Amino acid sequence: MVKIGLIADIQYADRSDKGRCLFRSSLDRLKQVVELFNAEGLDLVVQLGDVLDGNSQDEKGLAQSRSELDRVLEVLGELRCPLEHVVGNHCLALPRPELLRRLGLPRAQRILEIQGRRIALLDSLAVSLYDKNLDPKGLEEAHSALALGQAAGEPWAVDWNGALGKRQREWLRRELLGPGRPGLFLCHHPIFPSAARARFLAWDHQEVLALLGQNPAEPVTWISGHDHRGGRALDGANLHWTLPGLVAATEVWGLERQDRDGFELFAPRLSSSTASGHA
Ligand SMILES: [Fe+2]
Repeated sequence: MVKIGLIADIQYADRSDKGRCLFRSSLDRLKQVVELFNAEGLDLVVQLGDVLDGNSQDEKGLAQSRSELDRVLEVLGELRCPLEHVVGNHCLALPRPELLRRLGLPRAQRILEIQGRRIALLDSLAVSLYDKNLDPKGLEEAHSALALGQAAGEPWAVDWNGALGKRQREWLRRELLGPGRPGLFLCHHPIFPSAARARFLAWDHQEVLALLGQNPAEPVTWISGHDHRGGRALDGANLHWTLPGLVAATEVWGLERQDRDGFELFAPRLSSSTASGHA
């Protein structure tokens, strides 16, 4: 079994609490989670996006975001196993090239191989208005996806969401058809309506769900964050698990474990009163 620790929406900021977001104390909870992960002897930890809340993108705001990312990475640096990252909307408070460099990512969308098993790390901000470094074609796709959803009155058609986009979906389709098909998908955005509130779903969640299919012989697991309230639901044999956000938790109670297709998945057990919340 491969033991993986997962954590979502640390969303640290050196700033007073706002609503249900407890920005500053998120770092204390992260320290507790790191200790719990270390005691478990994990093979890997994956941070599922929104590592920081972010600030304005002027000089002062960028300097503040950089220093906040330093502090989070310092705490995560105490992990005694490899660490991987998924990109969230708030992470893009820093320019994408700088963010990827700081997180040590060759690219946001990629396949990880661990003990002969393949895991897909996905980028649900590949097409989004949060990404100020998007090329004109991507920007056009983002505007058009958002406009289409808004015209249809879809609750997920809001600018804090994003999409995998055409290019990444095509890549995903090839990965799912090829040998060594990945069974575990880690992404900032949830895609299954019963596992998260509708306004937090990726713009192209219906297309991605269709790609994953529902073959009981090859069930998949999709783990995300973004909706701080969290959620979990089965879509046939496929499991969709939205982790509650660390920023919206008041306490860390320990770890919960979910065994799934050769993976032992660990996530913080959080006390949270998130009834609405921000993503
Ligand atoms: Fe988010």
